[in-house]
Amino acid sequence: MNRKLPAVLLSAAMAFVLAACGSGSGGSGGSGGDDGKITLGFSQVGSESGWREANTKSIKESAQTAGIDLKFSDAQQKQENQIATIRSYIQQKVDVIAFSPVVVTGWDAVLKEAQAAKIPVVLTDRAVDSDPSLYVSFLGSDFVKEGEAIGDWTLNEYKDATAPVNIVQLEGTVGSAPAIDRKKGFESKIASNPNLKVIASQSGDFTRADGKEVMTAILKANPKIDLLFAHNDDMGIGAIQAIEEAGKKPGVDIKIVTIDAVHDGMQALADGKINFIAECSPLLGDQLMDIVKKIKAGQPVEKRIITEETTFTQQQASEALPNRKY
Ligand code: AHR
Repeated sequence: MNRKLPAVLLSAAMAFVLAACGSGSGGSGGSGGDDGKITLGFSQVGSESGWREANTKSIKESAQTAGIDLKFSDAQQKQENQIATIRSYIQQKVDVIAFSPVVVTGWDAVLKEAQAAKIPVVLTDRAVDSDPSLYVSFLGSDFVKEGEAIGDWTLNEYKDATAPVNIVQLEGTVGSAPAIDRKKGFESKIASNPNLKVIASQSGDFTRADGKEVMTAILKANPKIDLLFAHNDDMGIGAIQAIEEAGKKPGVDIKIVTIDAVHDGMQALADGKINFIAECSPLLGDQLMDIVKKIKAGQPVEKRIITEETTFTQQQASEALPNRKY
């Protein structure tokens, strides 16, 4: 038996991870501090949505503006990829590690490894269930509040309903903070009106393709749907295609509410195909770079920084679209 084979495979796999991690904007491939610049290792969830694309752009542009050497890696929505990338950033001795965790659980071991290596970690966008002492700061939205905003709109829209209102929910990635919290916020609000009934709730993994596929199946099984709540614009847009293919009018025959307010979602809202959107801002880059600089300067940073957000009606979307950055 060739006892060397596993080690060979292991080093080849590690070389691949290191190469992938050095491919971001401005990546020098060396450890932090060689050129006097701060080195930030960032592990992104993936490129599943318009929101994620805007978030990636924001982080890359802000790092460049701030003069921070960014090592960027796309995990393709897989936690194991993120863990491998974070381990490679620890090996490379970057100054700070930031990541947007795909799911909430399973981070203790790698966060403890970063802490043992004295590399500060910043969470962006999504939360983890690890002990907060394992990371320095968490920058991102209040997802429960976003779900509540959708719930408030729903309560008001159907306040005079005397018959059951059939609601479908397209959930985000299973086990992710936004999917868990948006569902919680929404369902806690609509619970006060017994006419509001969630008749189907399934994951569309935050993608347009899955949103369409899941909605197509739900439409076949449920002839009467009054409202769709999609946990992001992309799944809502996929569902719009499914609704149109089923011969129904999105925004009219089936009302649609979503979260994000990215360009395509706002356009669909202005066009009357979506009825209401709660904003989730992807523009986290500048704040993240400020946090990284403060950490390196030994200055205190807030443990939790909540992104400022709003909501949009159809009229407000038409007004906001011309100046929208993403
Ligand atoms: O974590 C933020 C969510 O992730 C956004 O709402 C969604 O579009 C993205 O994929």
